[in-house]
This record gives sequence, structure tokens and C-alpha cells, in this order.
Amino acid sequence: MKILYINSCVRKESRTNILAKYLLSKLNGDIKELKLDNSIKPLDEEALNKRQELQLNKKYDSKEFELAKEFRDSDIIVISSPHWDYSFSAILKVYFENINCNGVTFGYNDKGELYSLCKAKSLYYVTTSGGYIVNDEYSFGYVKALANSFFGIKDVKYIKAEGLDIEGNDSISILNKAKEEIDKIGENL
Ligand SMILES: Cc1cc2nc3c(=O)[nH]c(=O)nc-3n(C[C@H](O)[C@H](O)[C@H](O)COP(=O)(O)O)c2cc1C
Repeated sequence: MKILYINSCVRKESRTNILAKYLLSKLNGDIKELKLDNSIKPLDEEALNKRQELQLNKKYDSKEFELAKEFRDSDIIVISSPHWDYSFSAILKVYFENINCNGVTFGYNDKGELYSLCKAKSLYYVTTSGGYIVNDEYSFGYVKALANSFFGIKDVKYIKAEGLDIEGNDSISILNKAKEEIDKIGENL
């Protein structure tokens, strides 16, 4: 089993990364960690034109599709991101832009219906927040929608630890509670 860990945590001492690593310790398979950084660029006009030309000519061997193929060929996806500004870190959106490619991760059939080309059956989204998450739809909900429709992944799990920065909250015990939830996930695998 190929497990792709997409780490979009920014801080070295990230608590989200700690939780995600705990989850990974419960999963069976070969883990490849992809730490998202500034080497992954948003699609500017030049990159978009290049990609469209490659897609038109079906040149899927090009380096432009490496990230997308790695995602497509993984069996389990684990994504971590701190909860930032009601959502996830911007670098994760940049990653989605890069990997979601017609002809590589999804396609359209004769009836114009979307179908997935991805192998994964499960995706885990791990986050932590300083306060309480007001609306999950801006973060987990978005990732779940992408997973369900474009990636064809129906089993999407959500692991979160909230309120870590609220004065008086015991962040260690909140994180331990989240780890107990992960233990339950591990027991049911
Ligand atoms: C740029 C930035 C934006 C943030 N936005 C939110 C937010 O919208 N809601 C919230 O509850 N916490 C917010 N926080 C707090 C973080 O979610 C919290 O500290 C989180 O645990 C950080 O994860 P990390 O330890 O993995 O870096 C924000 C923190 C930063 C630095």
C-alpha cells in the first residue's frame, strides 16, 4: 500500500503535523511524505498554457504532471493543515491546483460526466485550530467535496483538535483526546 502524506503544515513544531504523524503510525503501508513548500507554484498564465498544451497533445510523461501522477497512484492519502483564516494553508490550495488535471487525475466520459483516475480509496484530513472551527465547510468540507467528486474517494475521515490557543485550555489533553480518536480509527482498520 502506498501512503502519500501531504504535509502542508508551516511551523517546524506544528501540532497538526504531530497528530498526522500519529495517524500515520497506525496505518499500514509505505509512507511517502510530501512537505509542501514554495517549490510548488500557483498556476500562472505561462504554466497554465504549458499544461493545456501538454494535455492537448496527451504528453502525460512531462514533469509538469509528476505531482498529479504521484497523487493518482497512491492508495491512501493523508493531508495535514493548520486551520488558518477559517480554512487551510494557502500552499495546500496551490497543491490542489497542481494535481487536479484532466487526463491524469480525472477525465470526462462521452456523456460529459466526470470520472476519477485516482487509485486511493481513503483520505484523511488532519487539522488543529487555535479557537473553535466555526464552519467546517471552508476547510474539511472543501477537501471532502474534491475527494468525493474529482478524486472518487468516498471514505474521507476528519481528525481535528480545536481550541489549542484558548487561554486556560489544556492543549496537551486536547491533543491526547484527538489521539484517542485516531486510536479508534486504527483499531477499526
Ligand atoms: C495565519 C494564522 C491564521 C489562523 N487562523 C485561525 C482561524 O481562522 N481560526 C482558529 O481557530 N485558529 C486560527 N489560527 C490558530 C491556528 O489554527 C492554531 O494555532 C493551530 O493549532 C496551528 O497549527 P500548528 O501547530 O500545526 O501550526 C491561525 C493561526 C495563524 C498563524
